[in-house]
Amino acid sequence: MLDELENQYKAASTALAAAEGREALEAWYRDTLGRKGNIYLLTRNLGALSAEERPAYGRRLNEVKAELEAAYGEKLALAEDEELRAQLAAGALDVTLPGRKPAEGRLHVITQTLRDLYRVFGDMGFQVYRTRDVETDEMNFELLNFPPHHPAREMQDSFYTTVEGVILRTHTSAGQIRAMREYYPEPIRVVLPGMCYRNEQVTARSEMQFTQLELLAVGENITFADLKGTLTEFARRMFGAERQTRFRASYFPFTEPSAEMDISCFLCGGAGCNICKYTGWLEILGCGMVHPTVLRNGGYDPLKYFGFAAGLGPERIAMLKYGIDDIRQFWANDLRFLEQF
Ligand code: DAH
Repeated sequence: MLDELENQYKAASTALAAAEGREALEAWYRDTLGRKGNIYLLTRNLGALSAEERPAYGRRLNEVKAELEAAYGEKLALAEDEELRAQLAAGALDVTLPGRKPAEGRLHVITQTLRDLYRVFGDMGFQVYRTRDVETDEMNFELLNFPPHHPAREMQDSFYTTVEGVILRTHTSAGQIRAMREYYPEPIRVVLPGMCYRNEQVTARSEMQFTQLELLAVGENITFADLKGTLTEFARRMFGAERQTRFRASYFPFTEPSAEMDISCFLCGGAGCNICKYTGWLEILGCGMVHPTVLRNGGYDPLKYFGFAAGLGPERIAMLKYGIDDIRQFWANDLRFLEQF
């Protein structure tokens, strides 16, 4: 049996010496050391040997295997080297070929809109002030002059948490009190951005999750003229120098007086189109002078301090600007939509 082993070894060595190229080498390996290879199969002979003969045979078989394995490894490495050299020589790798451009991400259209707003208000001295999405009923409603059961709450159907008195904010106005309490007695000029949540029937016009940007200015000599001046200037910087504004009386519990601001339609210039529904005007935000009760709740004496506030919806602005007809697009995560901006 040892003879057979030596013969097979010799045959395998000769075959290996003759094998050229990676494919031939791999074929040799299959036929020799692979699970069905000649040398591998010699292991079976062990069973037929006597207990005395077995150790010598086993030892020799292991040696043979190890030697062939090592010789194969060396030849394979050389063959692979050669293959690579041949490929390089053949110019298979053209280093002058331009690379593939990785897919570029982009900012979400609402993030872009918010940044435009920050820039415009930032130039006018307003800082970004971030507050929480999960709010107390007190901050979101009560301290803003919506007592429990006040009918104005009806406009903002809320999401409640399992913790009594804790809700998801329905508007960024909730941050007004927090900003005032932090800044008192300094004057304030901040914008408060963020996601708001309302238990709405989701339609093309209303989502249960949307962004708002709140504006708040508090100081000793602030008047309604400051409100009008700031917001009119904002409209010009954001939507074009020719923009006209008009203020319509409105109602919010946390401002007195309250107004809504329209801007002359930036698509038709006021002549009338389907975006402005042929009125020539676009409703763009709610605003007003901070209610004395709200100032007091924020820590400011309403006999000494005054303030104005405004709230606007970046989704609405983006919809008007880009002619988007369905608010659900913003958070539907459809790349065909998102990649357009
Ligand atoms: N919080 C109001 C809403 O979500 C928007 C608003 C109106 C904010 C007037 C204001 C404001 O600061 O003065 O409907």
